[in-house]
Amino acid sequence: KKTLKIASIPGDGIGKEVMPEGHRVLEKAASRFGFDLQFTDIEWASCDYYQKHGDMMPADWKAQLQSQDAIYFGAVGWPDTVPDHVSLWGSLLKFRREFDQYINLRPARLFEGVPCPLAGRKAGDIDFYIVRENTEGEYTNLGGVMYPGTEREIVIQESVFSRFGTDRVLKYAFELAKSRERKHLTVATKSNGIAISMPWWDSRADAVGQDYPQVKIDKQHIDILTARFVLQPQRFDVVVASNLFGDILSDLGPACTGTIGLAPSANLNPERKFPSLFEPVHGSAPDIYGKGIANPIAMIWSGALMLDFLGQKEAHDAILNAIEQVLKDGPRTGDLGGKATTVELGKAIAGLI
Ligand code: NAD
Ligand code: IPM
Ligand code: MN
Repeated sequence: KKTLKIASIPGDGIGKEVMPEGHRVLEKAASRFGFDLQFTDIEWASCDYYQKHGDMMPADWKAQLQSQDAIYFGAVGWPDTVPDHVSLWGSLLKFRREFDQYINLRPARLFEGVPCPLAGRKAGDIDFYIVRENTEGEYTNLGGVMYPGTEREIVIQESVFSRFGTDRVLKYAFELAKSRERKHLTVATKSNGIAISMPWWDSRADAVGQDYPQVKIDKQHIDILTARFVLQPQRFDVVVASNLFGDILSDLGPACTGTIGLAPSANLNPERKFPSLFEPVHGSAPDIYGKGIANPIAMIWSGALMLDFLGQKEAHDAILNAIEQVLKDGPRTGDLGGKATTVELGKAIAGLI
């Protein structure tokens, strides 16, 4: 029997509430489809750990995780106790970089039974992928403050776009678009205002696109692109974006499909040199933590993406079917307009596998 070794990191806030539901559903899928899951539960990469140890992770974190097939991650961040840039650069952003998880794949899909905030949209009208660059771009620690504390204070924060890093995410997005029926790729840009990096980004899209004559390229400035997510979401198939643009689009996309409580993500190292990481798009949600009402679907769907990446496609499909079924006529959490608890939703989904 095949055994998949999974590092399980709940993190902070509702990460700790949705993780057990992820385990529940994945275990059920494993027993049905004949493989074993060996979870290693990890309490570091959390703000609780930071408060005890003065650091987010132990020194040998990389070795501990490298031996795993994948990382299943809840959410990190508790701004009341640890500044967000400290907790995130000390954990999640370190994983993405040091494990070279350069693709952040984030689907947005409107399901039957989920109230859509956009008028007149029905299930199937919204079904696209955001491919977010995940290791460079606007997310850097390069820069500094000059003349701090004075009226002449100047803050500089650099962005970094390498040809290597840009071409590989574009290539991934073109491949994904090519594999889909509509073969349509939206390239998020801002080449009017961001006058160095973004015209260059566009030129790399054209260069990489040479190898994909089947794929239609649609370059859009990020400002109108966000407007079209709301006004014409059916127009999108695959959207490729820099780190920051992709971050923003990947909360907006799922919000257009009803709730960010559904939205999963796969932080991939496609070469499999390092473990990939699977996590909800949402954060630790301090405003609802402790009530047991967080939607566990983002966590569960992320787990399904993880099983798919690890070769268990049937298990992925069964979990997704169960999610669809529950959204259609099962219990629902508050963000979906219902009163069900996190555990009730997890159990309902597990019960359909
Ligand atoms: P958030 O995603 O935690 O919450 C935003 C809003 O969405 C809140 O009102 C919350 O209640 C709601 N929400 C989120 N997930 C939900 C779910 N599963 N079910 C129902 N409602 C849900 O974003 P934030 O408030 O900006 O961030 C809170 C903390 O989480 C910060 O420390 C932030 O840095 C961190 N964060 C971490 C990650 C991550 O680990 N990947 C992602 C985003 C934010
Ligand atoms: C996400 C989150 C992170 C990001 C934060 C918590 C650093 O918002 O995964 O989308 O910006 O990438
Ligand atoms: Mn985000």
